[in-house]
Amino acid sequence: MSEFTFTDYYHNQVTFSLQDHPYSSAPKHVWVICRLDEKWLLTEHSRRGIEFPGGKVEEGETAEDAAVREVYEETGGVVSNLQYIGQYRVEGKGGTIIKNVYYADIEHLVDKEDYLETRGPVLLKHLPKDLHLNERFSFMMKDQVLPYSLQHLNYSK
Ligand code: GTP
Repeated sequence: MSEFTFTDYYHNQVTFSLQDHPYSSAPKHVWVICRLDEKWLLTEHSRRGIEFPGGKVEEGETAEDAAVREVYEETGGVVSNLQYIGQYRVEGKGGTIIKNVYYADIEHLVDKEDYLETRGPVLLKHLPKDLHLNERFSFMMKDQVLPYSLQHLNYSK
């Protein structure tokens, strides 16, 4: 089985798949699980809290371009290897969004003045086990997308 359905933190229905672009060949959103020097690299979003970097695919970009750009904008991380993990669909009140999930190795961090809507990089040796109860973490980290992705990467949370 490579498709999973569950509800997210806001009770929206999410369907996650490990197949190759099952819901859209050109998704408009990306999310990137990053590793640097044996640590997880995340960003601290000013509203949502700590999360892996990601965002919207811009006009003229591929989803891979957006993944590399968002990681740099939100953390200063320079991606050296990007691997597609899967794709998910969120059925929200405002419509459906489709997002690609990637794994990225980060070569190094560039120290920047500005990290857009985030407070910049957060490096963690371990992701907390009780992430879903922890107010410092974003809702995006609190549904099944993260554990399924980590399991696929052979990391267990
Ligand atoms: P900005 O990101 O500030 O531009 O605004 P937005 O709220 O319009 O964001 P977006 O279009 O990215 O997402 C719309 C809604 O989809 C959000 O409010 C969430 O409910 C949902 N959503 C977006 N990304 C995710 C995600 O990764 N996981 C889950 N479960 N829901 C998401």
